[in-house]
Amino acid sequence: MALLEGRDLTSIFDFSDREIEAVFDLADEMSKHTRGRLGLADGKIMSTLFYEPSTRTRLSFESAMLRLGGEVISVADTTVTSVKKGETIADTVRIIESYADIIVIRNPLEGSARVAADYASIPVINAGDGPHEHPTQTLLDLYTIRREKGKLRDVNVALVGDLRFGRTVHSLAFGLARFGAKVTCVAPRGLEMPAHLLARLDKEFGCRPAQYQSLAEIVTNAEVVKRRPGRQRALASEVLTLFDAVYVTRVQKERFESEEAYRAATGSYAITEEMIRRARPDALVMHPLPRVDELAYGIDRDPRAVYFRQAAYGVPVRMALASALLGLRAVRIGKARKGEYKPKPRREVDFRKFSNVRCSNGHCVTNHETYLAPQFNFVDYAPGAIACAYCEHEMPMPAGVPSE
Ligand code: NCD
Repeated sequence: MALLEGRDLTSIFDFSDREIEAVFDLADEMSKHTRGRLGLADGKIMSTLFYEPSTRTRLSFESAMLRLGGEVISVADTTVTSVKKGETIADTVRIIESYADIIVIRNPLEGSARVAADYASIPVINAGDGPHEHPTQTLLDLYTIRREKGKLRDVNVALVGDLRFGRTVHSLAFGLARFGAKVTCVAPRGLEMPAHLLARLDKEFGCRPAQYQSLAEIVTNAEVVKRRPGRQRALASEVLTLFDAVYVTRVQKERFESEEAYRAATGSYAITEEMIRRARPDALVMHPLPRVDELAYGIDRDPRAVYFRQAAYGVPVRMALASALLGLRAVRIGKARKGEYKPKPRREVDFRKFSNVRCSNGHCVTNHETYLAPQFNFVDYAPGAIACAYCEHEMPMPAGVPSE
């Protein structure tokens, strides 16, 4: 029980594989209580602090807390709070901690949830920190695979869409890799998965996603053609015969510098009715939602289009997570598995402070909340590089800078 009580979830790396599975076991139980009100969280308050738009994430957290029997105090629009007067994340969470027992935060700055967790003395959950991470979406994505496929290990998944700015796929790629998945990346030119994430997937988890720019390309290059010698080309509509799950995302318009840059980046990777007609009977079409035009409305009723069920799983998963972090329910941690991922307690991580070095990522929280001392880690798999301890962007080790 104490294993998760009082902990934060700011990154998918904060929980071990077994802790993730323990949350899922609890979510199975919570699935029976997604109507009505359990008396589990009596007297407990969740504060949802959202600096960016949200429908599913905020409301499913709030629904989860209410279903557990707790209460919610919510900031859905920070322009009506002291944030508008320039209040920092560190001060805001130190106020909220005396009003609530757990904080759920979404903020456009990368590394912002980590700052909230460092300053608040109550559990902090990251509900999306810019394009960096969205670990609870990953929990419900993995849970969807486990529920719909009956297994979580060794699945074959394509991540499709904006893999550069999409935070859900950044957390999910690692979640999948940790459970032995084969991952394929399909992204229009310019929206590929960032190189430092690919390097980490490879070096730490032995996961080397094949990279494609379109669904047509993937099918033409893949087993569909190999299976049928003589065929030079395969149809893009056969893509759903290749994977256990195809996880589609929208292009993250709000992260582009300009409307022109956004328009230049969009590619075509819509899942069509024709694709679903040809799909494997057990294929899953997933999407964190909201969709723009990546999923034809005509596929919604097909049982393989699981995105509405996926969003619904957000409630039992967040019920399980909140009750575990609040220490309301015991979680049963399974047996250790060889080579499984386990997080290092933060105090054991050897962060280095470098005088006068700032993170090179303009959207990193350390470049906006100036009371923060930048911190960096050496990157095991990229000698000579350092990575920001907040947003994880890598940069070359500055020459001649002594570490303190
Ligand atoms: C995602 C997000 O906010 O990152 N939505 C969600 O939380 N379900 C995906 C998106 O906005 O595209």
